[in-house]
Amino acid sequence: MNKITIAIDGYSSTGKSTIAKQLAKRLGYVYVDTGAMYRAVTLYAMQKDLIHESDFNVEALIYQLDKINITFKYNIDLGFAEVYLNGVNVEKRIRTLDVSGFVSKVAAVSDVRQKLVAIQQQMGQDKGVVMDGRDIGTVVFPDAELKLFMTSSAEKRAQRRFKELKDRGDDVLYEDVLKNVQERDFLDSNRKDSPLVKAKDAIEIDNSNLSLEEQFEKVLRLVRMTLEDM
Ligand code: DC
Repeated sequence: MNKITIAIDGYSSTGKSTIAKQLAKRLGYVYVDTGAMYRAVTLYAMQKDLIHESDFNVEALIYQLDKINITFKYNIDLGFAEVYLNGVNVEKRIRTLDVSGFVSKVAAVSDVRQKLVAIQQQMGQDKGVVMDGRDIGTVVFPDAELKLFMTSSAEKRAQRRFKELKDRGDDVLYEDVLKNVQERDFLDSNRKDSPLVKAKDAIEIDNSNLSLEEQFEKVLRLVRMTLEDM
């Protein structure tokens, strides 16, 4: 059976990773969460005190990029690979609102993008990969056989994210989560290097009114069609 590359891009909290994980499991493919990699670099910058409310020491981060080692390790209980920063599992720590508040600034730095894109291309070189992010179909794998672009209203996305954080026991306000979603949309779409745009050949999926099952069925149909066309 031929293996393909599946690129899933879209706005934050559109449920890309949920679909991507399910898809990878069903197809026996590798799932790569590229947002987790940008989040891990952001956590590193925070731990090294390179980033504060209005002040971000970009030069120091660029200088230290070689010291940042990002890896994934499959967790059999969770059914997906968790992200490690210099050997430490940071999967939970990178999902907090403080990391979310800075990550778009870090993701706008070209040197950071170059480093992470090279790792992502290496991880997907043998195909059989489902990768989600913002620039997968445009920059990382412009030749991916199947490209999806997920959208949903900012309110729906903030509600989803708010519920996730609350379920985890985080003390957050819905208004703060909505603000973060809107700010990230703006920064991700307006940065100079690899802004979030829909690739010309990507299929847009607006999941505002779709259940998870409906989305998954839709995506699975697209995968089957892509494989039949090969
Ligand atoms: O998917 P996420 O919300 O975990 O992504 C975190 C941030 O990383 C997001 O604000 C944009 C950035 N990002 C990016 O610029 N390019 C990617 N391929 C993935 C994420």
